[in-house]
Amino acid sequence: MRKVYIETYGCQMNVADTEVVFSILGREGYIRTEEIDQADVILANTCSIRDNAEQRILGRIGQFNIYRKARPDVIVGILGCMAERMKETLLDSGKVDVVAGPDAYRRLPELLAAASQGHPQIDVILSREETYADIAPVRVDKNGVSAFISIMRGCNNVCSYCVVPYTRGAERSRDFHTIVREACECAQQGYKEITLLGQNVDSYHFGDYDFARLLALVAESVPDLRIRFSTSNPQDISDAVIETMAAHANICRHIHLPVQSGSDRILEKMRRRYTRAWYLDRVAKIRALMPDCAITTDVIAGFCSETEEDHRDTLDIFGRVGFDAAFMFQYSERPGTLAAKKYPDDVAPDVKTRRLEEIIALQNRLSLESNRRDVGKTFRVLVEGPSKRNAAELCGRNSQNKMCIWPDTAHRAGDFVDVKVVDCTQATLFCEPV
Ligand code: 5AD
Ligand code: SF4
Repeated sequence: MRKVYIETYGCQMNVADTEVVFSILGREGYIRTEEIDQADVILANTCSIRDNAEQRILGRIGQFNIYRKARPDVIVGILGCMAERMKETLLDSGKVDVVAGPDAYRRLPELLAAASQGHPQIDVILSREETYADIAPVRVDKNGVSAFISIMRGCNNVCSYCVVPYTRGAERSRDFHTIVREACECAQQGYKEITLLGQNVDSYHFGDYDFARLLALVAESVPDLRIRFSTSNPQDISDAVIETMAAHANICRHIHLPVQSGSDRILEKMRRRYTRAWYLDRVAKIRALMPDCAITTDVIAGFCSETEEDHRDTLDIFGRVGFDAAFMFQYSERPGTLAAKKYPDDVAPDVKTRRLEEIIALQNRLSLESNRRDVGKTFRVLVEGPSKRNAAELCGRNSQNKMCIWPDTAHRAGDFVDVKVVDCTQATLFCEPV
């Protein structure tokens, strides 16, 4: 039995892919290990979204070499977005035996076998059809409460800053029959929450099913499960999706809606295909139908040619929306993207840093304000397990995806508990049982 260890970087899609890889390798007799020094095969499922993500992973690949030197039969493989973006150059380093892009995972057993005969292997061919629809993922989530279900792969939006269309290829949707089947299997296995994943879930389409119909179908197929989804694109999120959420109590009241910038000029250069007015209209629609819906976002500070006025527009839209939480980044030029070819990366590093810090400071305030509005409210929370700080406390998330902590020794992971918010920080709701 060969033991395989996988380290996963980047987004939830990568976590879902790692689960597919464990399944494919499991069928060929590989067993999973969480101890890297026990592993016969060490894999890194990688992310290319920003340069600092890649640099960190490259450093880690250097460390893998220690295990390879100690045991020369150990195979090191790079999967995912960096495999796809860097291709042969990863093999040229001499530290890697296998390079497999996101659509090559079915061939992994074959690639690993050939590599153990001393022949480095690479497969970075992108597919127009592959969705791994028939593969039952081996869940890596430890507490067995929450599962990811991939509903589509790739992306057809060519946002000018983004490397994903090049690393994950063209968009394709998975057969909804297999999605519903997987959701039902999760319910049977005792999972309490599923997250439907895609780079742009709102452009899901398979047969007569768009994302709104898929969402309704899944919500009705597993009525006792909570449903989440990620990620939405402001230009594609339809009224039908928002109405479907509002009509189903088991679809969580949370939409992650990356805004990227508050400036129309920058949004156009980013090729985002919506304006700030459109974005604010979507937010208004969401709030009209679901006043309790959390809205979170992603933003990039210091994109090519961004001025102080553009930056103020970003701060302004943050203030207008009052996001519940945000992931905030400095622009990082990615080789091969439209922005890298067309626009100089001309915002000075210290200016990018300062603008990012201003956005973070504002968002910290907005997150705290959002949490303060919840003090006194009661929420149903899905227990994840003991809180990190205190074994007599449990933690879990409410429908809005906010982290709640409360004193409790009676419940356990997977239970739904009603709690009342009594205090908060910007990151956490402190509650008591009701
Ligand atoms: N530089 C900085 N941030 C980026 N993102 C995507 N590409 C880049 C880039 N080149 C951010 C976006 C996206 C999130 C996943 O990562 O905000 O929504
Ligand atoms: Fe990273 Fe994007 Fe690839 Fe996810 S899809 S692993 S965020 S580059």
